[in-house]
Formats: sequence, C-alpha cells, structure tokens
Amino acid sequence: MTKKGIGIIGTGSIVNTYIKCIEEIDDANLVALFTRSSDRVKKIKLELGIPAYSDLSAFLALPQIDLVCVCNESGSHGEAIIQAAKSKKHVLCEKPLEVTLEKIDRAINSCVQNDVTLGCVFQNRCGAHFTEVFDVVSKGKLGKLLMGNAHINWYRNTEYYTKNPWRGTLELDGGAAFMNQGIHTIDLLLHLFGPVKSVFGTIHTRVHNIQGEDVGSGILEFENGAIGNITAGTAFYPGHPERLEIYGEKGSILMEGGRIVGWNVMDVPEPDFEKGNRDGSGAANPTAIGHQNHKKVILDMLHAIAEDKSPMVDGPEARKSVEVITALYKSSESRELVFL
Ligand SMILES: NC(=O)c1ccc[n+]([C@@H]2O[C@H](COP(=O)([O-])OP(=O)(O)OC[C@H]3O[C@@H](n4cnc5c(N)ncnc54)[C@H](O)[C@@H]3O)[C@@H](O)[C@H]2O)c1
Repeated sequence: MTKKGIGIIGTGSIVNTYIKCIEEIDDANLVALFTRSSDRVKKIKLELGIPAYSDLSAFLALPQIDLVCVCNESGSHGEAIIQAAKSKKHVLCEKPLEVTLEKIDRAINSCVQNDVTLGCVFQNRCGAHFTEVFDVVSKGKLGKLLMGNAHINWYRNTEYYTKNPWRGTLELDGGAAFMNQGIHTIDLLLHLFGPVKSVFGTIHTRVHNIQGEDVGSGILEFENGAIGNITAGTAFYPGHPERLEIYGEKGSILMEGGRIVGWNVMDVPEPDFEKGNRDGSGAANPTAIGHQNHKKVILDMLHAIAEDKSPMVDGPEARKSVEVITALYKSSESRELVFL
C-alpha cells in the first residue's frame, strides 16, 4: 500500500485519538488540520507543531492530502464531506454521519458523484469481544433471534455541555443521548439484528439545560420478528457501562462496556474472555475512550481506498442508525409508532 496523506477537519477532543493513531500507522502521515478559528490555528501550530489552516479551500487544495477525516460538530459533517468530495478527497467521517437523513443523503450522493470513498467511524464494531459475538450470531448459532436490547445509561456533567455549546443542540448534535452517545451501541444492535420495521420512542430533557434528550427509551420491531428495547441517557450518575443483550432461541449473550459478561449458547463453548482487551469506556468520561479501535477503522479505510472496495461502514450502512434514532425522536413527538 502506498503511503497516504491525511488531513483532519475539526480540532476538538476526538482529534487527539486520530493524531495517536496516525503516528502508529506506517502507511499514513498527518498532513494538516483545519479549524475555523484562526486563534486555534496559531495554538495548534505552537502546541502540536502540525500545519493548520483556517481557510478550507487552501486546506483542501493540498495535493498531499488523500483522505480527509471529518471530526467537527456532527451537524457540520455533511458540508465538510461535500467540500472534501468536491476536492476529490476520500472521506472518513466521525459518527453520526450527519444528524438528518436529508443531509446524509446529500453527503453520500456527493461522494458517489465525485467517485471518492466514504467511510464512517463506528469503532466499537472492531472490539475483540464484539467481533466474537458477531461471528456467532451471523453464523446463526443463536438460532432464531428473539430480543436485542441496548442500554447506554451514561453520565455527562454540566460542564460537558457548557464548555462546547454545540453539544445537546438540535442543529449541531441532532439531539443528545441517543444521537451522540447511544448511537454506537445502537449501531452494534442493528448490525446483529438487521433492518428495523417500526420504532416507538419517548424522550425527555430532565436534568441538563440542553435541547436534546438526557433520558430516553424506545421499543423496536425488527424485520426478522425480534423485538428490541433501547434506553439512553446522559443524566445517570455516575454513568454505567453500556449494555448489549442478545437473546436467541439457542441461548443468550450479554455484553457490558464492550466485554462479554454472560455467555450461554447451546453447543458453543465460551470464548476466551480475556482475549483482547477493549478500549476504555466513555460511560462517565468521553476522553476515556482509547484509540486502538479507531486505528483499526483508519487502517480499514486505507485498505478500502487502496483496493477500491467498500470500507467496514460505508455511507448507507452509517445511515441506518440515524434512521432509527430520528424515527424514535419522531415517534416521541407524535406519540405514535413510526414505520421505517
Ligand atoms: N467515535 C467516538 O467515539 C467519538 C468520540 C468523541 C467524539 N466523536 C465525534 O467527533 C465529533 C467531534 O466531537 P468532539 O467531542 O471532538 O467535539 P469538540 O466539542 O471537542 O469539538 C468540536 C469542534 O469545535 C471546535 N473547537 C473545540 N474546542 C474549541 C475551542 N476551544 N476553540 C475553538 N474551536 C474549538 C473544534 O475545531 C471542533 O471542530 C462529533 O461528531 C462527535 O460525535 C466521536
């Protein structure tokens, strides 16, 4: 694989993860960062010694950049993707791909029209325990799937929202607990259980001074006949590790904080639970998330570009979790079941 140049749009907390990953990847180098703030450009050059731009056209004109990683506020992802695609750069975007389906579709179309590869970061799919679970479920060893539950009952303090005011807004965060934090585990649930037929949801803002929800719940019906219960929040002190519960006719698997904590599958022995430690959990602190799974996502994207194939999570795949979450929001507003 020839070495690829990477540029990053956004200089928030997640960017440190990218810097660490790129440093560890032989086939990639970090070319430059983009941020809208010219003060921040100076700070980045001084503190990190990385070239930084506040002029997007100049940043995207850099011929050394092959891949743009979009790491700005979620509701600005679409515009960043479109601009990068028009500049013929491949794009790896942080989750969620965007906060509305309309904006997602525009971004996907732009990448198709400009013939660039689009990937989205759902790094928990790379967790060692989850890949074990996915293997067993996708081979049908749990038999008919009956119920899948995802519980992301996390905690964020007031400062988390006040320090970076885009968080929890409808325009830039698209909501809050489901769209920002819960989406990872919902993505895993959908990856295991497949398409969703209908959603009923109820969301509330009980503690934080934000537009989006800090407490919410939903019931899903999957096309395969299984049902699902999802809960999410950022008001559940001190923040509990996210749970994923998978029930099939031949057994059940429980995961907590990315680890298998319960394995009862008929005729399938327990895997080695110690195999492969996961990255840290963001249950109480978003900066506690480690970088190893992100590194696997970036490597997968570089291979997808080199081999002209789809990345692990492409645009249509990343659209699915946003479709379910926005349906849940719509259901909560209308007090009706929403069919997808
Ligand atoms: N995959 C994951 O686990 C994960 C984890 C965290 C964030 N994310 C995603 O990454 C994206 C960015 O999230 P984040 O938490 O890094 O956002 P952030 O709030 O830290 O930063 C968001 C934007 O604000 C700007 N910014 C931040 N601090 C600034 C300052 N002091 N002055 C001027 N500008 C400033 C940055 O340029 C950045 O583009 C979101 O889409 C989020 O969903 C993903």
